[in-house]
Amino acid sequence: MINIIQWSTKIIERWFVSAENRIFKIHLFYMALKIVDHGSPEYQKMVRLREDVLRRPLGLTLEEDELDTERPHVHIGAFEEDILLGCCMLVRENDETVRLRQMSVMDNIQGKGVGRALMNFAENIARDQGYKQLIMHARKHAIGFYEKMGYQVTSTEFTEVSIPHVVMEKPLN
Ligand SMILES: CC(C)(COP(=O)(O)OP(=O)(O)OC[C@H]1O[C@@H](n2cnc3c(N)ncnc32)[C@H](O)[C@@H]1OP(=O)(O)O)[C@@H](O)C(=O)NCCC(=O)NCCS
Repeated sequence: MINIIQWSTKIIERWFVSAENRIFKIHLFYMALKIVDHGSPEYQKMVRLREDVLRRPLGLTLEEDELDTERPHVHIGAFEEDILLGCCMLVRENDETVRLRQMSVMDNIQGKGVGRALMNFAENIARDQGYKQLIMHARKHAIGFYEKMGYQVTSTEFTEVSIPHVVMEKPLN
C-alpha cells in the first residue's frame, strides 16, 4: 500500500526565553499522519499502543488471531519522528459505510489535539475511498470527543469489551 503522509500540528506547551530575556510559550509542534502497512514495524508499535491504552486497562489483551484479520484494514498512525503518538483503523462495512476502530492516543498526551488530527485524516482517507458515512462503536466515556468531531449517537447503550458503548455516525460530505 502507498503510504499517504499529511503533516498536522499537536499542541504541546513549551516555555522559551527570547534574546531580550522575555519568557514566552510555544504551542505548536508538527506530527506526521501516515497510513501504515499491516505487519510493519510501525504496525507493531500500534499494536503495543492499543494494548496499553485500550486493552490492558480492562484486563484484556489483543490476540494474534484478531491481529491476523486486520490485514485488509487501513491502519493510521500519528508520529513525532519515530514515536507513535496515536493510532486508529478504518474497517469497510459496505460500499457506503466505513467503521473507525481502535482509536487511541498515548496516555500522557491526551487532550492535546492528536485525536482530532487522526479523526480528520481518517475522514479524508474515507472520503477519498468513496465512503459516504463513518461510524464507530464509541466507548461511553469518549462520546464527548466524537460529538466534538460532529458525530451523533444512533443506538442505545450496549456492552463491548466489558464496558458501555454506543454507535455513533457522521455523513462524510
Ligand atoms: C478519546 C481520545 C482518542 C481523544 O483523543 P485526544 O487526543 O485526547 O483528543 P483531542 O485533544 O484531539 O480532543 C479534541 C476535543 O475533544 C475533547 N475531548 C477529548 N476527549 C474527550 C472526552 N473523553 N470527552 C469529552 N471531550 C473530549 C477535547 O477537550 C477537545 O475539545 P476542544 O477542541 O474543545 O479543545 C483519547 O483521549 C484516548 O485515546 N482515550 C483513551 C482511549 C479511548 O477511549 N479511545 C476511544 C475508544 S472509542
